[in-house]
Amino acid sequence: MLKEMKIQTEIREATEFIEKKIQAKPELGIILGSGLGELADLIENKTEIDYKEIPHFPISTVQGHSGKIIFGNLSSRYVLAFQGRFHYYEGYEMSKVTLPVRVMQFLGVKKLIVTNAAGGINESYRPGDLVIIKDHINLIGTNPLRGANISNLGPRFPDMSEAYCKEWRDIARQVMGEIGIPYKEGIYAALCGPSYETPAEIRYLRLIGADLVGMSTVPEVIAANHGGMKVLGISCVTNMAAGILPQKLSHEEVIATTEKAKGYFIKLITRLIRFLD
Ligand code: HPA
Repeated sequence: MLKEMKIQTEIREATEFIEKKIQAKPELGIILGSGLGELADLIENKTEIDYKEIPHFPISTVQGHSGKIIFGNLSSRYVLAFQGRFHYYEGYEMSKVTLPVRVMQFLGVKKLIVTNAAGGINESYRPGDLVIIKDHINLIGTNPLRGANISNLGPRFPDMSEAYCKEWRDIARQVMGEIGIPYKEGIYAALCGPSYETPAEIRYLRLIGADLVGMSTVPEVIAANHGGMKVLGISCVTNMAAGILPQKLSHEEVIATTEKAKGYFIKLITRLIRFLD
């Protein structure tokens, strides 16, 4: 039980620290994936909090993730954006990987947008595409809810049958039409990483129904569902997954592609959040 008490104390202390720095209650949380952090530049009347300052927050070690919270107004809503996330492959415990989600939960946030850079398995995708996550397959090898259930956070056996809100996916479809980008929806498979997949692993993932592959998002989405939040997930396809094209995969390419996609990404999110109720 000690471990569970420590986790709760950490969430509480991090939450209290953030609460003192912000002037209003955030309504919507956004986790920004690799290379997609620039959305936060559009937030108005902002308060920035470095992860370094927040009790119990680890410091993101990945290039393309800067490591701060930005609170303020976006499309007339109070949002709390996380620029930089914690990955399991970095060596953090799942309680750290999901700490941003738990802090949002304790702050009363009920709506969450999670974004990521992903490899495209579905051959109709192209690098630069934005894809709405319809569902996921957890292949990380563990679950953030493993261990004694913390009933203050949610139930022992949370339902995951609509982990990504259907109504919000329909809204995203409409907004994509309005801004003139093709509507794409897919299933995201999360692997531990940090090595990219082999071509054989990608063929396996395609066989089991995955359209996208990445190393994040799923732990946060499980925690968010456990905590009773509605979730929208958006992937930026940064590369075709291993073995589809005669190419090698690199993090530099991933970041370069998000650079190209970020205009539409920002348009999509800023428009979308007006309609998420
Ligand atoms: N595989 C896993 N994670 C990723 C990829 C990929 O091809 N691209 C961006 N993140």
